[in-house]
Amino acid sequence: MTQSEQKKLAAETAVDAMISEGKIFSGMKIGLGTGSTAMPAVHRLAERIKDGTLKDIKAVVTSFQTSNACQDLGIQVYSMNDRVIGGRLDLAVDGADEADAQNNLIKGGGAALLREKIVAYNSSLFVIVIDESKDVKSLGTKFPVPVEIVGDARVPVTAALERLGAECTLREGVRKCGPVITDNGNQILDCLWQNPVNPPEMEAKIAEIAGVVEVGLFTKNKPIIFVAHEDGSVLRR
Ligand code: 5RP
Repeated sequence: MTQSEQKKLAAETAVDAMISEGKIFSGMKIGLGTGSTAMPAVHRLAERIKDGTLKDIKAVVTSFQTSNACQDLGIQVYSMNDRVIGGRLDLAVDGADEADAQNNLIKGGGAALLREKIVAYNSSLFVIVIDESKDVKSLGTKFPVPVEIVGDARVPVTAALERLGAECTLREGVRKCGPVITDNGNQILDCLWQNPVNPPEMEAKIAEIAGVVEVGLFTKNKPIIFVAHEDGSVLRR
């Protein structure tokens, strides 16, 4: 299977499994992630709404990409602040850039880490869907950890991240001059280390820096991870 076939397989397997186990159910409040693996999960959910398996699904989205998809697919979108959501979700489903053996994650390759973390950390159940290339031994040396920052604090935040051993690159736009501007109006520093990081420790240290909005290490709400493989198998852990 190609990588994109694995992404679709992981996403559809996870949604089907969560429905059959009663963890995705009618009337629920669900967080929907961003990216090319999260999208097939959104589409699968829409199929199950359309065929009548699921009714009255209330979605909270993590990006413009996902809100556009929900509008096109007829999935009702709410804010975390809406009374009907009450700041708490039953389940969130999302992709990831890397996952280690302890189910710590790097997220934010699509620059949606801030709303992804709000959704993930306020969900009773967190489900991650990935292809096998994202299943790694350690974090921090291969896929850069995205850090969403306030643009005016770029220089001091970069210096503080360098003191934590990171090499930082400001994420540049594609077919847009200058930095990527996130859905929340901020910028992204992509951070790499020479040696693997301790993910919970580094998440906490980076979050303390003034001018950091959010860090793309996800260590607190441990997800169930569905990993799709080249041979067509999907392992769950
Ligand atoms: C977006 C994310 C994505 O989940 C992550 O980048 C994985 O993306 P893809 O499924 O397209 O490989 O965190 O901010």
